[in-house]
Amino acid sequence: MIKAIYCGTFDPPTTGHMDIIKRSFKFCDELIVAVGVNSSKKSMFNEQERVSLLAMTLGEFLPADKHPKVSIKTFEGLLANFAKEQGASVLIRGIRSVSDFEYEINLAGINRTLDKELETVFLPTSSELAVVSSSMVKEIAKCGGDIKPFVAKGVAEEITKKFGFLKTGDEDKEKHHYFNRHKRHRNHVI
Ligand code: COA
Repeated sequence: MIKAIYCGTFDPPTTGHMDIIKRSFKFCDELIVAVGVNSSKKSMFNEQERVSLLAMTLGEFLPADKHPKVSIKTFEGLLANFAKEQGASVLIRGIRSVSDFEYEINLAGINRTLDKELETVFLPTSSELAVVSSSMVKEIAKCGGDIKPFVAKGVAEEITKKFGFLKTGDEDKEKHHYFNRHKRHRNHVI
């Protein structure tokens, strides 16, 4: 039985993360989606919010009857220690590019040095999702763009709220209002 961990910051979780989660079910029997809590890394959403955004994302993209055991947990400190505590032998990481690979190969090496029983499995991200990242989603949202193709519906709403859009129920009005406010603010600062 393979128990695996898919970890990340998930600030916020995206369709790119979901792609990796779904595909990892092909070879693992139990999956822990682990939210890294790192006080030195500034995140837009706090620990509880990231857990709830992940639950929303899993709920939207995974039919409950069609996936093996999946749980969401948070961890602090070394991932290798957390994996040991949880009895997991595999870490899953998505690779989008050569630069991801360079970083990930080092991380995998460190984790295997810390625990020689711990293997890292790399999954190449589906090509259409290779450009997706949590920062990109936040940047698009900040500029009033449509983030719905990149995140779950509920997550898009939460991000929109965070950026202070007015909940008028009218997307065009929301954007218009946001930009006017933003423009006014910029003019004021200048
Ligand atoms: N699709 C889309 N985006 C993806 C992706 C995928 N398949 N895989 C990664 N990303 C993006 C994320 O959205 C994130 O984007 P951002 O930089 O714009 O926010 C970025 O890639 C980083 O991904 P993430 O997986 O969250 O990695 P991270 O570098 O923030 O690392 C931990 C988080 C928890 C894995 C890492 O900090 C860790 O292992 N911490 C524990 C300490 C430890 O054991 N360190 C190792 C020994 S030194």
